Amino acid sequence: MRIGVLTGGGDCPGLNAVIRAIVRKGADVHGHELVGFRYGWAGVLEGDTTPLTHESTAGILHRGGTILGTSRTNPYGGDADGTAAVREAMERAGVDALIPIGGEDTLGVAGRLSADGVQVVGVPKTIDNDLAGTDVTFGFQTAVQIASDAIDRLHTTAESHNRVMVVEVMGRHAGWIAAHAGIAGGADAILVPERPFDVGDVAASLRRRHERGRTFSIVVVSEGAVPKDGSGLTTTSGEKDAFGHERLGGVAVGLGQELERLTGYETRVTILGHVQRGGTPTAYDRVLATRFGVAAIDAAHEGRWGTMAALRGTEVELVPLADAVAEPKLLDPALLEVAEVFFG
Ligand code: F6P
Repeated sequence: MRIGVLTGGGDCPGLNAVIRAIVRKGADVHGHELVGFRYGWAGVLEGDTTPLTHESTAGILHRGGTILGTSRTNPYGGDADGTAAVREAMERAGVDALIPIGGEDTLGVAGRLSADGVQVVGVPKTIDNDLAGTDVTFGFQTAVQIASDAIDRLHTTAESHNRVMVVEVMGRHAGWIAAHAGIAGGADAILVPERPFDVGDVAASLRRRHERGRTFSIVVVSEGAVPKDGSGLTTTSGEKDAFGHERLGGVAVGLGQELERLTGYETRVTILGHVQRGGTPTAYDRVLATRFGVAAIDAAHEGRWGTMAALRGTEVELVPLADAVAEPKLLDPALLEVAEVFFG
């Protein structure tokens, strides 16, 4: 078989490890020909391909980003007949099957293609860890490590200046990064999209802590967290991407100002942004990404179309693609209960 591989959506540490694993097992063991589509679905539609060989994927295991490039192109955007367009593009490229590596949007496209009979196996990717069907996505652990390292650094400067530090982390629909980095970094408040926050309650909690003698506090907030007052998401522009998502960012700014006003404590804001997605993946993410890549190419070899590699407990299994994209995987409330033990 000639199998096309693409990476779509936001990049994520571990993508190159997946590509390497698909090629190594797919070409060297199963004898398939692998071809990369550049820049996600854009490369599929435009026939922008690059050969993927043992040689061209050597030395990439530890590298962040994606050697294939990525985009948020949506083949079904507008009124387009995405299935027909992708089918024709696959025929032109002489490709029999696709392995898209992506999050809710890229795998959403994969799910629609699969429902229409296109031969597809998915690999779940997002630093947000909000894809259903898998316990964990690769890239998440790296993002958490970067965020908790940042919180450690903010701790010492917060303590030196007796300040409140508000740290904004990624997480559009789900607060997985905020909860994990917040617990790892000893945060004094964690605000997540799943639970709209009351800034007065946060201020009161910080005041209680400071009345007990502490002179600084760390507040971790997801970019997708919203206040209870109904003012909604904080966005950096009115623009939406091809899948209808707003560009989030900046909730920490208003929150920091309001906390300073309500408490009188000097406050500073740090927005970690894309730092969380860049650079080398952790060892855990390299291993998970490698396991997903091997499982995906094995699935394609066996013709198990319409599936996605997933981590269930400690095992990598195949689950229906549709399971991954039906609903986002939201934060387990039990995790927030653990975090709350240390608030105030
Ligand atoms: O989906 C992953 C993610 O990193 C989100 O946490 C964030 O909202 C979004 O991508 C940012 O996307 P972009 O790279 O387009 O700014």
